[in-house]
Amino acid sequence: MPRLATARAHSNIALCKYWGKLAVPPRADESGLGYRLRSLNCPATPSISLALAALSTETTAEALGDGAREDVFELDGQPATPAAHDRLVDYLDLWREAGLLAGRFRVASANNFPTAAGLASSASAYAALATALNALADEPVDRIDLSRWARRGSGSASRSIPGGLAAMEAAIDAPAYLALAAGELPWTMAVCIVDAPPKDVPSRSGMQHSRDSSPFYSAWLEEAQADFETVIEALWHLRHRSAEPDEVFASIGEVAEANCVAMHAVMQTTDPPLLYWSPATLAVIHAVRAWRVDGGPLAYFTIDAGPHVCLLCLQDDLAEVTRRAAAVPGVQRVIPSHPGGPAEIISLE
Ligand code: DP6
Repeated sequence: MPRLATARAHSNIALCKYWGKLAVPPRADESGLGYRLRSLNCPATPSISLALAALSTETTAEALGDGAREDVFELDGQPATPAAHDRLVDYLDLWREAGLLAGRFRVASANNFPTAAGLASSASAYAALATALNALADEPVDRIDLSRWARRGSGSASRSIPGGLAAMEAAIDAPAYLALAAGELPWTMAVCIVDAPPKDVPSRSGMQHSRDSSPFYSAWLEEAQADFETVIEALWHLRHRSAEPDEVFASIGEVAEANCVAMHAVMQTTDPPLLYWSPATLAVIHAVRAWRVDGGPLAYFTIDAGPHVCLLCLQDDLAEVTRRAAAVPGVQRVIPSHPGGPAEIISLE
């Protein structure tokens, strides 16, 4: 029986975004249906994302001996903040309550990218953690259920289990599934880190506030479903060679931009407003749109709950997109990435 497992998972950036959770019955008590539904962390919008090989988390989980009374959590070599520690313990409790794990654990996690940069660190973190914990379970779950377990830690993490282009429906206890593997993808992304103050409102609380207060939230749910269906249909045509790859790329890129702007419209109309963009965010958006008219590389922008801009482009254009993006005022650095593969175990003792 292994006592120590290390897993690696890649971060992912959504082209169709998850923003909002399925509502929980208002009168459900904490021990009943409401608690279970809340702990499932089910998204209210379907999403589809690209895993990025250049952004990854490595997590080691170690089963502590019988005498251990507390879980221990280190992040990038330092003790985790109390908030991160509590979230980890709540997550470990879910595995213990389900009878998959017993006892206390030491968890050490390291990202190869800045943790506070608003680059979907919880996606790779919870995917790597779920993969490592599963390797220590008496009866490990299969990869579909592993994606569900990752989702309970963080919704976006479910999509880092299959990696590549991964899709997840808005349904109770939905897993993410592989829509197109990393090796089959003609596209990739460059991540532009821009000048901005540290992220203020985390996704978890931000999306709750949006649901409770944005007048556009219900329109967003409809838009998100329609965008997802458009992308799934475009991918179907790509797989069946019934549309030109360039056409598919353009239609997915256009949907990704519209979906990102719609999500940010909901964020900005949340009370109080969630204003994640900085002046440099807008500078990158305008630059990318200008490249389209001046004969530059075709790239499409998308932005998560932070100021940084991810540019979807053809793999052949990655170097040129990276070079041009790095020259936009306010861009600190650009991380070019190829598509990432699935979450995996890298050592077991
Ligand atoms: C804007 O997965 O971080 O990145 O489930 O509460 O942990 P929790 O939220 P999280 O939200 C991701 C929001 C997003 C869009 C996306 O990745 O789809």
